[in-house]
Amino acid sequence: MVFLLIHMTTQRETLLEIDRYIEQLCVPANADFAQALRDAAAAGLPEINVSPNEGKLLYLLAKIAGARRILEIGLLGGYSALWLASALPTDGRLVTLEVNDKFAGVARKNLERAGLLAKVTIRVGDARQVLAELIRAGEPAFDLVFIDADKPSYPVYLDFALQLTRPRSVILADNVIRNGTVIGAQATDAVVRGIQQFNQQLTGNPQLETILIPVLRERVDGLAIARVR
Ligand code: DHB
Ligand code: MG
Repeated sequence: MVFLLIHMTTQRETLLEIDRYIEQLCVPANADFAQALRDAAAAGLPEINVSPNEGKLLYLLAKIAGARRILEIGLLGGYSALWLASALPTDGRLVTLEVNDKFAGVARKNLERAGLLAKVTIRVGDARQVLAELIRAGEPAFDLVFIDADKPSYPVYLDFALQLTRPRSVILADNVIRNGTVIGAQATDAVVRGIQQFNQQLTGNPQLETILIPVLRERVDGLAIARVR
């Protein structure tokens, strides 16, 4: 038992050290990005933003995809939006959805400070309603969609994402591993069940080619990467 505890602690430390190692090598220091995280925490926002390494991954995926139009579902304090907007050309557009007015206000300031707000449209409201509105208004297809909002709604957000993309678009989703709680039988917990259903829908859709990649933090989470055929 003592051995097990020591082993688990060591493993957690090792994961964190690896995450730091990658960050030091791959994520250049950026004062505006760092300030965004501090301001979000100071404003009392939940500290559930993507890690710097995952932010860099989102940025690279957007660039590799040549994304000019990106949709984000779940803005929070704007940390992932900073990365995604940075990956866009000057005339690119990030449309990002947030249900919480206060969170959106914090994010707006963070994007403005970083000089990225001109490329970003923030839509405050229930994502289901805003997404339905986008479709009704004939919003052109997005090159990349990043889902990172309330987990029980992931399956619904995927349905919308499929309607707002085109062949060769990329669909990304955060938190698809949740430290392995998604493994096994259908969970009773609404959050875990939402992700389980989402992962099944994503991987079972013949129109998509998908991989789930583990993402290290204090625990192991994951990013889903799917490409529309
Ligand atoms: C939670 C949500 C997230 O988007 C995340 O990256 C981590 C945790 C959560 O609601 O617990
Ligand atoms: Mg997340």
